[in-house]
Amino acid sequence: MKTIVIQVSKIKLSSSILIGAAALFLAFTSMRVGNPEKWTAPADADKKVNPVASNEKSIAAGKDIFGKSCVSCHGKKGKGDGPKSAELDKPVSDFTKEDFGKQTDGAIFWKITEGRKPMPSFKKEMTEEQRWQVINYIKEFSKKK
Ligand code: HEC
Repeated sequence: MKTIVIQVSKIKLSSSILIGAAALFLAFTSMRVGNPEKWTAPADADKKVNPVASNEKSIAAGKDIFGKSCVSCHGKKGKGDGPKSAELDKPVSDFTKEDFGKQTDGAIFWKITEGRKPMPSFKKEMTEEQRWQVINYIKEFSKKK
């Protein structure tokens, strides 16, 4: 009788280890398979409000910055088809997509500040004001149809 009990508990133990391992494996693969391109800013980033009004002046300043620092990858029309985009191992974000325009300026600011390879970080290269100006410019891409 005792040996049977031991046997049964052994089976229970090994099967729970198996189930645990399977669950871990599933969690891991779904993490990797689940939309690898999606880049989300932390929720906190949304709270940052754009202090630079979106008007002709700031959009023009943003356009200049875009032409110098962003167009090589993001392309003239913001479609992610700049000349450098073909060399990258990842697609360049398309700013004409509705989803892009739906993001808060704060989230976009966070992404431009932090970067994510091969997208560079502009924390050092650009002042905060310049980052807000370029946001005012690139947000125009998703408005035009
Ligand atoms: C070397 C190429 C390169 C340059 C230069 C570059 N980007 Fe990017 N950018 C990328 C790539 C690639 C991604 C997608 C990154 C990812 O998904 O991990 C991206 C993503 C972004 C995103 C996120 C878009 C989204 O859908 O959330 C923003 C915003 C952005 N770039 C803005 C800029 C701005 C503004 C500049 C210029 C100041 C710039 N980028 C310069 C390659 C570049």
